[in-house]
Amino acid sequence: MTYGLLQKILVITCFHLIYLSSHQELNFVYESFGRQENLYFDGSATVLPNGLLQLTNASDHQMAHVFYKKPIGLNSSKPLSFSTHFVCALVPRPGFEGGHGMAFVVSPSMDFSHAESDRYLGVFNVSKNGSPSSDVLAVELDTIWNPDFEDIDNNHVGVDVHSPLSVGIASASYYSDIKGKNESINLLSGKPIQVWVDYEDTLLNVSIAPLEVQKPSQPLLSQAINLTEIFPNSSRLFVGFSAATGTATSYQYILSWSFCTNGGSLQQLDISTLSKVPQPRAGHKNHSQLIIFLLGFLATMGLGVLIGVYLFRRCKYAEVTEEWEKEFGAHRFSYESLYKATKGFNKDGFLGKGGFGEVYRGTLFLSREIAVKRMSHNDDQGVKQFVSEVVSMRCLKHRNLVPLLGYCRRKNELLLVSEYMPNGSLDEHLFDDQKPVLSWQQRLVIVRGIASALCYLHTGADQVVLHRDIKASNIMLDAEFNGRLGDFGMARFHDHGEYACPTGAVGTIGYMAPEIIDMVASTGTDVYAFGVFMLEVTCGRRPVEPQLQCEKRVLVKWVCECWKRDALLDAIDPRLGDEFLPEEVEMVMKLGLLCSNIVPESRPTMEHVVLYLNNSLPLPDISPYAVGFSSHSSVLIDAASLVASRSWSASSVSSSSANIVVEKKNFRSSLSSFNSLW
Ligand SMILES: *[C@@H]1O[C@H](CO)[C@@H](O)[C@H](O)[C@H]1NC(C)=O
Ligand SMILES: *[C@@H]1O[C@H](CO)[C@@H](O)[C@H](O)[C@H]1NC(C)=O
Ligand SMILES: *[C@@H]1O[C@H](CO)[C@@H](O)[C@H](O)[C@H]1NC(C)=O
Ligand SMILES: *[C@@H]1O[C@H](CO)[C@@H](O)[C@H](O)[C@H]1NC(C)=O
Ligand SMILES: *[C@@H]1O[C@H](CO)[C@@H](O)[C@H](O)[C@H]1NC(C)=O
Repeated sequence: MTYGLLQKILVITCFHLIYLSSHQELNFVYESFGRQENLYFDGSATVLPNGLLQLTNASDHQMAHVFYKKPIGLNSSKPLSFSTHFVCALVPRPGFEGGHGMAFVVSPSMDFSHAESDRYLGVFNVSKNGSPSSDVLAVELDTIWNPDFEDIDNNHVGVDVHSPLSVGIASASYYSDIKGKNESINLLSGKPIQVWVDYEDTLLNVSIAPLEVQKPSQPLLSQAINLTEIFPNSSRLFVGFSAATGTATSYQYILSWSFCTNGGSLQQLDISTLSKVPQPRAGHKNHSQLIIFLLGFLATMGLGVLIGVYLFRRCKYAEVTEEWEKEFGAHRFSYESLYKATKGFNKDGFLGKGGFGEVYRGTLFLSREIAVKRMSHNDDQGVKQFVSEVVSMRCLKHRNLVPLLGYCRRKNELLLVSEYMPNGSLDEHLFDDQKPVLSWQQRLVIVRGIASALCYLHTGADQVVLHRDIKASNIMLDAEFNGRLGDFGMARFHDHGEYACPTGAVGTIGYMAPEIIDMVASTGTDVYAFGVFMLEVTCGRRPVEPQLQCEKRVLVKWVCECWKRDALLDAIDPRLGDEFLPEEVEMVMKLGLLCSNIVPESRPTMEHVVLYLNNSLPLPDISPYAVGFSSHSSVLIDAASLVASRSWSASSVSSSSANIVVEKKNFRSSLSSFNSLW
């Protein structure tokens, strides 16, 4: 009985063994490769501590093979079918081209010693007409484009039978059931990729998908092949993987693998428990990324610098323009051109400084020499009026006027551009002991010139122009030593026929007619100042010199005293020596006194002054005891003490220190105190 049972068991076991050897079913799963049983390793294939199956490790010209040791037995009576699902990852080396890829292999033999690396993927070799022993079916994930294998790109999936020349090929992509279209996949992204290979009824389907995606309903490749035809003489087949690197290298991993034959149920892979794929850090080899980063950085910096320069220039050359200025556009200079002309208002071109502004010499294009006066302001209404008058001034043309070229306006800053006068202002030549003494003839030419200019301003132009600040420091000398009236900072226009215009009392102490105190400017006040100016030039001293003894302190008074003593020539500039005609000097002095008569009605007009100076008309017979001469105004005395109370510096080359603005009621009067240099 016992024997019978034993015999029965033995028979069943034998039958089972025979069955298994003749038609072996396979069904296995590797969630990780920590358990390496039944696996055959070859080449660089190895299992990492975390259970990851590493095929290649990014060294060049590597080959790796891993096979399941148990073969599939082929049975002619029953056609073979199989399904497999695996997760792989191809990780490029940072900064290097990745290659060459890997393949799922079905082969009668596990001996791939004749195979080659590189583009042959460790599966094939150069001889294309494979012998039976080289028969192989491979599903390749190829990351290099090999035109001689008729590859379509460097990121494709192919079905190879006996030859690296694929019988079916497609760019790596998957059909997204959600989106209803194909989505491409980068095989070399370094991320895990799922691969399904199914064979049944002479149809081989291949699908790939990212980790988070279900198996696509449409396969990427559906290739008609007949395994019985491919392996006609084989009774068993091994399944596994092959991978290779060449000069292009990458890390190639299998994370998990499930396989079954003949309609067995394919065991599910648990995607959530997959080992982590090591991502190599960008090391020192990572030149291209570093370079890209550096270039990006430099480009950003460059852009930043450009924007900075633009903003800086915008700010540096910023100007203020308003609607009302449009009509004056032609007379406007750009700040940038003035900035460049004066080399950034360089110290080398500094000509002088007045109370409210500085004057710089500059060179415009065509080497035209200009003088630029910079002054601050903050009164917009005043600026508008000023600019309009500056522009009107441009219409004034006289050989004894300093030509005004235009203006420029910035926030709180106004710039006036005029022609550069090479020989500076008259007071420098009168009072600077370093300079050669101006001869009487030169002085007379200057006085006549200024008289003619003033006459033109009062009568020759469309409007009456009052200069309001005639004095030696406002007379410029051109290259031929002609006097030119400059600095219209305080000039006023009014129509012919109007007698006077009420303004703030402006001007310079010593040149201001007494009636100025009543805030009335007229041609008469200009004549008064011109009279003082004539005396200043003739006597070579300033109108008020507080440091002198009392009777000499006020020039007008002193000259008048000399006349009364019948010794007019006592008042003459001693530096002239005797190089002069006494009649001419006396005539100019008397005319000076006549003009600076405190009774406005007693003063001659500028037209008459010009005639007298040119000897076209004899001076009227006047006496120093006439009204207006002797009882000289207390204004000047007061002014003198006022000046004396300030720290008076007569020695200053620029006369601006003598320039005291009596009232700063409006913008015009504020502008008046920088008038020394035109
Ligand atoms: C190619 O491989 C086959 C076997 O797979 C071998 O017989 C043949 O010699 C190999 N050819 C070369 C050139 O290595
Ligand atoms: C997706 O790709 C496969 C293989 O390249 C192709 O046969 C199929 O027509 C494509 N489907 C769509 C919707 O583009
Ligand atoms: C292969 O794909 C085709 C259609 O794309 C499908 O009809 C066939 O059943 C698939 N075969 C296997 C084994 O999945
Ligand atoms: C596959 O090939 C074998 C051998 O050539 C043949 O007998 C069989 O009919 C083929 N199968 C199909 C479905 O064509
Ligand atoms: C006046 O200017 C001219 C021209 O620039 C120059 O040649 C001459 O030396 C100057 N004279 C004085 C005294 O500076």
